[in-house]
Amino acid sequence: MNAQAPALNLASDLLTGTEWNASQVRELFRLAADVKAHPDRYKDALAGRFLAMVFEKPSLRTRVTFEVGIVSMGGSAILLDHANARLGERESIADVARSLSRWVHGIVARVFEQEALDSLAAFATVPVINALSDVYHPCQTLADFFTLEEKFGSARGVKLAYIGDGNNVCHSLLVAGARVGAHMRIATPAGYEPDAEIVEAARCDAAATQGTIELFRSPEEAVSGAQAVYTDVWASMGQESETEMRAAIFAPYQINAALMSHAAPDAVFLHCLPAHRGSEVTDEVMESPRSIVFDEAENRLHVQKAILLMLLN
Ligand code: CP
Ligand code: NVA
Repeated sequence: MNAQAPALNLASDLLTGTEWNASQVRELFRLAADVKAHPDRYKDALAGRFLAMVFEKPSLRTRVTFEVGIVSMGGSAILLDHANARLGERESIADVARSLSRWVHGIVARVFEQEALDSLAAFATVPVINALSDVYHPCQTLADFFTLEEKFGSARGVKLAYIGDGNNVCHSLLVAGARVGAHMRIATPAGYEPDAEIVEAARCDAAATQGTIELFRSPEEAVSGAQAVYTDVWASMGQESETEMRAAIFAPYQINAALMSHAAPDAVFLHCLPAHRGSEVTDEVMESPRSIVFDEAENRLHVQKAILLMLLN
């Protein structure tokens, strides 16, 4: 297979992002940069490989970037659309995992519950990659920090303010931020903080990279001096019935020009997308020169290609 794939003793799956240590994340970024600069070097890296892509929820970026990434490396992607029937409904997740393992070389899955992903991985004999769950979105935030490394040279020591819901994206930013040595400043309304155990684990991991994790109530305080300001939707997929109630609670957490004025002069704006303009971010900030949201979206492709190379080779 690909001669440039590193031997890193990686875990066989990417379920949370915590499987990878700081040097494995660094190796991922090195490989992603090479994939981005020299895509032709990898055009046959997945020749003869089949990947199943299970989606219980809608997706634009994740679905397209995985499919383009797989096919551009000579592999084949098979979409299993579970938008209308949860995984495990027609037959057990264990049976799905064991059947798929006889035919394909890897499984990419977007699920409602992290437990579904964990069950898939427990029974599959091929790598399972988290394409978003209720708790984590590792592919997103690895691409985010890769993007920040492109902008700032290194993500180590970069002050990143995440403003909004302490959700899956927030958790994965904490996991990845701790591994790259970023200064993470999270501001959420009361009751919407990130999971305390994930925060604590990230704090432990950050100690090794000189990163820091701080939680705030005030968005202005969190953004003060930040070089990167990040937000996500206030109601995630599956929480649509809470949209109105959350809109009132999260209104002071909107990223607008006034909030951005507290950030560093060279601060960039990030959003995993899809964005709800006028809610968590204004149109003005989304369209400003500070916004690097489409660089993030592009880098999903390069980083996920590197993830596939690392797990499948
Ligand atoms: N950011 C992200 O994962 O986008 P999709 O939901 O469109 O895949
Ligand atoms: N937190 C969002 C992220 C979408 C990419 C959700 O889970 O819907």
